[in-house]
Amino acid sequence: MARLTQNLGFLGGGRMATALARGCVQSGLVSGSQILAADPSAEARQTFLQQVPDAKLVDGNEHLLAAADVVLLAVKPQVMPAVLAEIAGAVSERHLLISIAAGIPLQKMARALPPQTRLVRVMPNTPCLVGLGASCFSLGTAAHRDDGRLVQQVLESVGLAFPVEEHLLDAVTGLAGSGPAFVYSVIEALTVEGTAQGLPAELAALLATQTVRGAAEMVLATQQSPAELRAQVTSPGGTTVAGLAAWEHQQGATAVRAAVAAATQRSAELGGDHQNGAQ
Ligand SMILES: NC(=O)c1ccc[n+]([C@@H]2O[C@H](COP(=O)([O-])OP(=O)(O)OC[C@H]3O[C@@H](n4cnc5c(N)ncnc54)[C@H](OP(=O)(O)O)[C@@H]3O)[C@@H](O)[C@H]2O)c1
Repeated sequence: MARLTQNLGFLGGGRMATALARGCVQSGLVSGSQILAADPSAEARQTFLQQVPDAKLVDGNEHLLAAADVVLLAVKPQVMPAVLAEIAGAVSERHLLISIAAGIPLQKMARALPPQTRLVRVMPNTPCLVGLGASCFSLGTAAHRDDGRLVQQVLESVGLAFPVEEHLLDAVTGLAGSGPAFVYSVIEALTVEGTAQGLPAELAALLATQTVRGAAEMVLATQQSPAELRAQVTSPGGTTVAGLAAWEHQQGATAVRAAVAAATQRSAELGGDHQNGAQ
C-alpha cells in the first residue's frame, strides 16, 4: 500500500476514530507519528494512545487543524453543529474534512463551513473495529478525485470501502450500518433454539457464531451466490429442507428485509434531524 505523506487528524478520539487510526498504522498507510487526535475526554485520549502508541494528542480542535491537512470528524452527530461552528474559521483550502457522523448531509456541513471546503461523508460500520468493516463514502462538490482515493485507502485499512452517490447512504446505513445488529439477532435466535433443543448454552452460542462466520466465509471464498450454496446443502427429504420450509412459513426473509427497509427509512428521517444520538 502506498504510504500517505499527510498527517491524519482525528477530531474526536472515540471508538471509531481509534479503530480507523489503528487500521491506518497497522496497514502501513501512515506511521503512528503521522496520527494526531483531539478529544476532551481523558479516558478516550488514554485509550487512543494505548491503541496508537506513537500518535500525538493535540490540545483543542483548532490546534488539530493547524497540524493536519486531512481531518476526520469523528464526533457524535449531535455534537457536529457545534464542532463545525468552532472550526469554521480555521478551515482553509489545504484541508480535507472527512465526516463519519451518521445522518448529516454534505450540504448541511458545507453550509457551516467556508465555500469550497473539501468534504467527504463516510458511512462506516462497527466491524471496522475488528478490521472487517463495510463502508461507503460520498464526495462533496468541492472534493477532488484524489480526496476520494485517500478516503478509500483510509477505509480499506479497516475493511471494504465503496464510493456511492450520497442519496444511497441511507440504504448503506440500513444494510451495513444497522446490519450487524440484525445478524446479532440471528446469532441470538440460533443460540436460543439450539439451547431449547438440548445443547449447553455456551456450546450453542459458539456453534451459532461460528456457523454465521463460516457461512459468510463460504460466500466470499467460493464466490457462489447464497442461493447456490443453499441448494448444495439442501437435499430432498433432509434436515435443511425441513428447516427452510419453517423459515419460509415464518417469513424469515421478509423479516430481514423489513428490518433493512425500516433502518433505511429511519436514516432518511434522521438526515433532517441530527438532534439525536443515533448511529
Ligand atoms: N461506532 C460505530 O459503529 C459507528 C458506525 C457508523 C458511524 N459512526 C459515527 O462515528 C462517530 C463517532 O462514533 P463513536 O462510536 O466513535 O463515538 P465515541 O466513541 O463517543 O467518540 C466520540 C468522541 O468525541 C469526543 N468529543 C465530544 N465532543 C468533542 C469535541 N467538541 N471535540 C472533539 N472531540 C469531542 C467524545 O468525548 P466525550 O465522550 O467526552 O463526549 C468522544 O470521545 C459518530 O458520529 C457516529 O455516528 C459510528
